[in-house]
Amino acid sequence: MQRIYVDNAATSFPKPESVYAAVDHFQRELGTAVGRGATRSSLTVQGVVDRCRARAARLLGARRAEQVLFTFNGTDSLNLALHGLLHPGDRVIASPWEHNSVLRPLKALAASGVTTTYLSPTAAGTFDLNELQQALQQPTRLVVLTHASNVTGAIQPVAEAIDLAHQSGALVLIDAAQSAGHIPVHMGELQADLIACPGHKGLLGPLGTGLLLVREGLERELAPIRQGGTGTVSETEDQPNQLPSRYESGNHNAPGLFGLETSLAWLESQSLATLREHELELTAALLSGLQEIPGIIVHGPQEATARVGVISISLPQLPPQTFSTLLDEHFGIECRAGLHCAPRAHAALGTLAAGGTVRFSPGPFTTLEEIESILDAVAQIAASV
Ligand SMILES: Cc1ncc(COP(=O)(O)O)c(C=O)c1O
Repeated sequence: MQRIYVDNAATSFPKPESVYAAVDHFQRELGTAVGRGATRSSLTVQGVVDRCRARAARLLGARRAEQVLFTFNGTDSLNLALHGLLHPGDRVIASPWEHNSVLRPLKALAASGVTTTYLSPTAAGTFDLNELQQALQQPTRLVVLTHASNVTGAIQPVAEAIDLAHQSGALVLIDAAQSAGHIPVHMGELQADLIACPGHKGLLGPLGTGLLLVREGLERELAPIRQGGTGTVSETEDQPNQLPSRYESGNHNAPGLFGLETSLAWLESQSLATLREHELELTAALLSGLQEIPGIIVHGPQEATARVGVISISLPQLPPQTFSTLLDEHFGIECRAGLHCAPRAHAALGTLAAGGTVRFSPGPFTTLEEIESILDAVAQIAASV
């Protein structure tokens, strides 16, 4: 049976060939720690990691490479941003579409007196800027917004929200887990204070890679959440103050960063605009095909341009887990069923009680033929219940 992997919103697969080669090269031929030696191989490794940081800064619009911090996934980046920035008494405003990697740190911080106001969902799958403006009338330390929902793919009005937040003196953290590598994410143009994203989803790097972009100067307010060896200023027991070592204690995921360096190079060589064109073509085909299948409910914006390539559906007679097992076992289609770690999003869509949705997320290597196979499989299942 063919294998059709459409769970790229969880982690992208396959990766560009060069990513596998780079990880293999590091593991077999280099294998040294980053920033901890002066041998020729450690300097080679350091050079690749520096290049990875510079590429990420270029792709995501940070002025200096040092503004890019390496973490281990999107969750790690969000935890550093939230726990590092917030203090007892701070107030946060968040969208209704946030992932548990935002909701759970905020819930944990509530115990130390951080309060969170959640905005209401709109029918378009976004949030209301007027409601945000109202909410900002009370002193607010931070606004947290996912750039694109990991349940519906709906692209959120983050640029307008950042303007409003800054007018009120609030900082903004953008969760770019579903947007980086899909649509433009530019720290300078957005004027975002913090941008968190995994390296292993749209950026096509290996699992175990993540990034946090920090606005210049914000390191004075952002406490590290881990202390330890950095290979720098080793004579003192104080954690260094400099970006990025202040936040990068312990050995790096060097094989992962070798892969990420190569995937970022691949993304540059393809151009984001071309990849977005392909994503829109696949998304439009999937959306229009699904909309025509009797019984299928397509959640979120009905037009492709309002989304990244993430599409959630329901078939009311069939639990989402059963639906996805049928797709996997009978058709070789690997998608994702359930709540996708975003319970508030499912509450907004009315799909919480049903156990969530079935989510398809094609990637840059998905073909239109594969989309046709998915539509055919969904139609057969929908006709059989
Ligand atoms: C919107 C969003 N935020 C955060 C995360 C967490 O990213 P990671 O799996 O890299 O920790 C995800 C991953 O599913 C996500 O979709």
